[in-house]
Amino acid sequence: MSNVPTYTLNDGTTLPAVGFGTYPLRGEEGIQAITSALSNGYRLLDTAVNYENEAEVGEALRRSGLARDEVQVASKIPGRHHAYDEAIASTKESLHRLGLDHLDLHLIHWPNPSRDLYVEAWQALIEVQKQGLVRSIGVSNFTEAHLRRIIAETGVTPVVNQIELHPLFPQAEMRAVHAELGIQTEAWSPMGKRQGQYDAEPVKAAAARLGVTPGQVILRWHVQLGSIPIPKSATPSRQVENLSLFDFELTEAEVSAISALGRPDGRLFDGDPDTHEEL
Ligand SMILES: NC(=O)c1ccc[n+]([C@@H]2O[C@H](COP(=O)([O-])OP(=O)(O)OC[C@H]3O[C@@H](n4cnc5c(N)ncnc54)[C@H](OP(=O)(O)O)[C@@H]3O)[C@@H](O)[C@H]2O)c1
Repeated sequence: MSNVPTYTLNDGTTLPAVGFGTYPLRGEEGIQAITSALSNGYRLLDTAVNYENEAEVGEALRRSGLARDEVQVASKIPGRHHAYDEAIASTKESLHRLGLDHLDLHLIHWPNPSRDLYVEAWQALIEVQKQGLVRSIGVSNFTEAHLRRIIAETGVTPVVNQIELHPLFPQAEMRAVHAELGIQTEAWSPMGKRQGQYDAEPVKAAAARLGVTPGQVILRWHVQLGSIPIPKSATPSRQVENLSLFDFELTEAEVSAISALGRPDGRLFDGDPDTHEEL
């Protein structure tokens, strides 16, 4: 959509300020939902090997009739593919399933620190970027220590860190780390999934003042924090709503009141990247 701004990343490329989450959209229904998102203006699709829908994302892109360079496709290397050769093979397999010759963004899905192979996975991402298979490289669910380690060991800083971020878990400390290191924050489960804080008082009050929906208030909060939300919706009207965020503004007090909904135990599940294993 023409009024969605972009962020410039630390490698000089850009990403739209809002993307489209594709988990768990699969099969023909999934293809239709993703095609609908593209026709409603989304230009960044977020998939992963573990979503088992890369073929659907590729098919939706072809059905959309959009040129390849109008849409950015992001995928993720799963924990079981962290070893160097496996991470390179994983990237090629993702491209094969997508039917694409390059990814615009490729991430390490979870660090899985107990396996201690995420530095190898990062070295593999640096290599596939050199080979032109991937335009930009980043990570997901990395803590400050994980980020500092891959940067120290390779000299290459990820362009994004995609982390759990929603009103119950606003991640102020990680956002400050990203700002210091020049990493763009991307927000997964930006609405808070089923625990979306649509009825929370500051969200309802801002929605009433602005004449927008609570979902739009939450997504606008992300925009004003400077994070890229990737909301998932299979509902075409919500897809439109979730991208219509650039003709209204929250006050600083409204942003602060929504951030104050955050709680130390506000994660959606026990997804602490130091202990959560996802293969
Ligand atoms: N990197 C990671 O580890 C990780 C982890 C989790 C997710 N992700 C990514 O993040 C994406 C988004 O996260 P998510 O799907 O977990 O959560 P989400 O986007 O916060 O929430 C999706 C849910 O909210 C509903 N919804 C969407 N827009 C709404 C609105 N305006 N008002 C009310 N309800 C609304 C959707 O329903 P309908 O579909 O029925 O409209 C769906 O049930 C995923 O698709 C995936 O790409 C990444």
